[in-house]
Amino acid sequence: MFLTALRSICSFIYTMIFTVSSLIGTAFTPFTDKLPEVPEDFEPAIRFVVFTDNHTEVGENYADGNRVVDMINTCFDIYGDDGIDLFVSCGDITEYGKDEQFEQFMDRFYGTIDGRAETLVFLGNHDIKMDYKASDHFLEKYGIETGEQHITVNGFHFIGVQSHTNSFVQIMPPSTVLWAAEELKKAEEDSPNLPVFTFQHPHNRGTVYGSVIWGCDSLNPVWEGHNRVVNFSGHSHFPISDPRSIWQGSYTAVGVGALARYELEKDLIWGQHPDRFQEAAEFYIVEADRDGSVKMSAYDLTTDSVFLTYYIEDVNNPETYAYTYKNMVKLDNAPVFPEGAQAEYTVNDKGEYTLTFDRADADFVVQNYKIEVRNKSGLLLQSKTYLSDYFIQDVPERMSINLGTLNLNEGEKFTVKIIAASAYGKLSKPLSVTFN
Ligand SMILES: [Fe+2]
Repeated sequence: MFLTALRSICSFIYTMIFTVSSLIGTAFTPFTDKLPEVPEDFEPAIRFVVFTDNHTEVGENYADGNRVVDMINTCFDIYGDDGIDLFVSCGDITEYGKDEQFEQFMDRFYGTIDGRAETLVFLGNHDIKMDYKASDHFLEKYGIETGEQHITVNGFHFIGVQSHTNSFVQIMPPSTVLWAAEELKKAEEDSPNLPVFTFQHPHNRGTVYGSVIWGCDSLNPVWEGHNRVVNFSGHSHFPISDPRSIWQGSYTAVGVGALARYELEKDLIWGQHPDRFQEAAEFYIVEADRDGSVKMSAYDLTTDSVFLTYYIEDVNNPETYAYTYKNMVKLDNAPVFPEGAQAEYTVNDKGEYTLTFDRADADFVVQNYKIEVRNKSGLLLQSKTYLSDYFIQDVPERMSINLGTLNLNEGEKFTVKIIAASAYGKLSKPLSVTFN
């Protein structure tokens, strides 16, 4: 109980920090009328895949390590054997960093790529659970670097760091922070006008969705002010489909979702797995040209579809940044229930009420539904916020929510009021239904 209350308070404080820091960072960036579209003549000079948090766990199907194999095969099927330049992992390649888990990842990841693309793997906090020097161990055993790395592919620079703390709190040592700053300087000097792609396991706090809870404070000072940086991170397992998972301030930050095991603020308490939390497996296919444009296509393996595309017109010109928090808030409108929307309910043998209703439409997503239930006298029986299933691409046409037991006599008249909330907290007009 105490822990739940503490989590709720922390969640509120973190949300405030997120909102304030996001707004301050983009105070002078202009608004745009719409999100940028990919021009027909966009010609990529590089194409890479970035994924995170696949959590290989041998012997159990908790995280389904085969998704890595599926992802690689899918990408080569779409683009051909020489169509992907590089695969990058932002970490948590294993559940516990056990040797047999690394072994399985080796087989599945490097075995499936089979030399057809370059690779970059940065260990996450789960990978160092058995051994804080897991990257040394990995290098010794497999001859593959998984710590701090900086490589160049087709003239584009890729810089990333591994996790250094095996805990909720993610901190980078000063040597890593200094190393990242020095490497960024070299990359910027060597590749004028090109984006510089950077990678880390935890998000930079105060940037993308999930970063206020699962973020890291160490590297923001390195990337801040470097507008050509496009930074990718994971750790939170918060979904790409939430529009807050892309952020632009003085640089661009992108949350890469997860290949396994989604996590969200179920009942508005962070650190919770929502129902169907294994039914999404997201990653990005990223393409860039030599004029500063970056196209990012978000792919979901469970539905085999690109479900979202972001396009940065020119990393050299922050004035064109459309994915700033304030701009996204402005482009978002309150969700709307369709004309004539209906709701029904059923009661199971445990006396739990399941409410089924027409979903509200949103510009981005309906993040949650706020539901009030009153009895025939108008007495409030329940007032609660329920997460929507927006992180899953394949959902039933209508929304169903288990409200649990309600203090109602069988067949008693009651009223339900449903309000849909967008990811930016904009509220629909209520859908009110009275059941006689
Ligand atoms: Fe993870």
